[in-house]
Amino acid sequence: MADDTLIAVKEAIASTAKVDEAKRRAMAERATSDPEGFWREEMRRVAWMREPTKIKNTSFEGDVSIKWFEDGELNASVSCLDRHIEAGRGDQVSILWEGDDPNSDSRTTYRELHARVCRLANAMRRLGVRKGDRVCIYLPMIVEAAVAMLACARIGAVHSIVFGGFSPDSLASRIQDSECTLLITADEGRRGGRKVPLKTNADEALKTCPSIRHVIVAKNTGTAVAMQEGRDLDWAALCDREAEICEPERMNAEDPLFILYTSGSTGKPKGVLHTTGGYMVWASFTHDLVFDYRPGEIYWCTADVGWVTGHTYIVYGPLANGATTLMFEGVPSWPDSGRFWQVVDKHGVNIFYTAPTAIRALMRDGEEPVKKHKRSSLRVLGSVGEPINPEAWLWYYRVVGDERCPVVDTWWQTETGGILISPLPGAVAQKPGSATLPLPGVQPALVDGDGKLLEGAAEGNLVITDSWPGQMRTVYGDHARFVQTYFSTFKGMYFTGDGARRDADGYYWITGRVDDVINVAGHRMGTAEVESALVAHPKVAEAAVVGMPHDLKGQGIYCYVTLVAGEEPTEALRKELVAWVRKEIGPIATPDAIQWAPGLPKTRSGKIMRRILRKIAANETDSLGDTSTLADPAVVEELVENRVGR
Ligand code: WT7
Repeated sequence: MADDTLIAVKEAIASTAKVDEAKRRAMAERATSDPEGFWREEMRRVAWMREPTKIKNTSFEGDVSIKWFEDGELNASVSCLDRHIEAGRGDQVSILWEGDDPNSDSRTTYRELHARVCRLANAMRRLGVRKGDRVCIYLPMIVEAAVAMLACARIGAVHSIVFGGFSPDSLASRIQDSECTLLITADEGRRGGRKVPLKTNADEALKTCPSIRHVIVAKNTGTAVAMQEGRDLDWAALCDREAEICEPERMNAEDPLFILYTSGSTGKPKGVLHTTGGYMVWASFTHDLVFDYRPGEIYWCTADVGWVTGHTYIVYGPLANGATTLMFEGVPSWPDSGRFWQVVDKHGVNIFYTAPTAIRALMRDGEEPVKKHKRSSLRVLGSVGEPINPEAWLWYYRVVGDERCPVVDTWWQTETGGILISPLPGAVAQKPGSATLPLPGVQPALVDGDGKLLEGAAEGNLVITDSWPGQMRTVYGDHARFVQTYFSTFKGMYFTGDGARRDADGYYWITGRVDDVINVAGHRMGTAEVESALVAHPKVAEAAVVGMPHDLKGQGIYCYVTLVAGEEPTEALRKELVAWVRKEIGPIATPDAIQWAPGLPKTRSGKIMRRILRKIAANETDSLGDTSTLADPAVVEELVENRVGR
């Protein structure tokens, strides 16, 4: 698709949008020329207990130090709850919950949410949880997940959410890394008509987590689960006796709000740490601008709270802005592939935010399941998580949005806290497949392999040259890894790990990761993690994992496996390894292809040449490039010959 497929802003949208083209331009200019002044105004979006006088104090050099609003004090839960009640909006619905079962839903007003948060916060304090303590949350998509997050924020505890689809091992390593003292979970989760055994998984994980003193268990499906005397506590019984008010902890702007583990190109997942003031300002600012949010609207982000999208755009952003945020327990394909649109009509959803992988899957089922529902309430459509191919973009725009709704393709990362590059509805003309322009206050750039800045239309590595309030502050417990991962590749710049192209209009087109991270159905996965799961199997000697193109998932997981001497490569063993990785990491890491590799292409110094493995997996064997530095070039021929799917 040519770059110049431009979908102009419709007059009707521009004339009603909060931010139009002229205003966007003015904001972007001001945010760059006078960041102090710009953010001194924008910071008023959140409720400060003590207004900051110092705005920005950041350095990408040396030890890297990022501080925003550093002498300010606030509590995130107050911005999300108390002030809306004080403003007379206590009876407005805060969380509109839609169950996996189409017949179950619930409405929680701001007043009710505040009361539930306070009860749990009081209970946690009574259990000895203090400011700065880490609390792990392993919950399904139920209202309790948001209550637990905000209750942590209320008392200054740092939450670390682990996605409910992760295995006991993955849960355990995350709890261990941040030494959580409390775990909040549920009996079971529900997804697509099936049950997820959360408490059983948690019990398994906790065998190796001595830091955990208590487990709070929410009743969800009502199934009987084992409760360990003295450790496990029933949520309802615990909270029923607590008061509905709870004094919020005064937090410094730079006190941690949460940790969220995410995969990198090497080693174990790292704990991305976000702090309170800058993150909350960024969550509110971006949710407001990118979705052109208007009071009274129903806003729906289909992500899971286990990912950063759920943190910023189901909970903190929309609640800071006093929105009604829809929380969905189910999946797009159940009971049928019209579910999203059925829910849109049922609740009158105005703003809808989902992932390209879901759009591609629904596209496959044709227009009928979409057209069966009216969707007339929809006003803005969003996309996040991976590059959206122009075909899927156009289908989303034409079929779902009836060419009425702007599509915002939002580029960002766990590390960035919120959206950095995206069109604004009514202010930026769209190009299908492009995340378009940076938000005001964001300074992206492209550099070549040597870190040289590229001007004009160019393709290269995507970096951000100056800080924004929502930026991560450190890797929990390992600041050196933070500096090494993000600031050492290109000196003085934040390296995103993504490649991108910038066209003649200055629009950004994200081309995908340039490191050893793969993006499977919008879920981020380190190839090193899958490799270490594979080599943990007694029959595996060595493994190399790469991404491969996948029609629905964007990328699939392609594994090259060398067995220990004497082991036979059988179909039964292949299945066993697939099941093994699922059990070790979780279903999102299920390998799509396993190729038996008698040998792997290595340099003479023993480094695996992944470039070649990626080419073979993608079936681009005509362009393998230079193989002369390999210790044994014959290995490559063997791998090409026996490629899976040949
Ligand atoms: C990686 C970050 C952003 C929250 C969900 C994922 C890819 C994300 C886009 C987009 C192209 C995108 C990038 C990024 N990505 N959004 N709109 N267009 N690529 O967060 O798990 O931290 O993954 O997702 O590769 O680096 P995450």
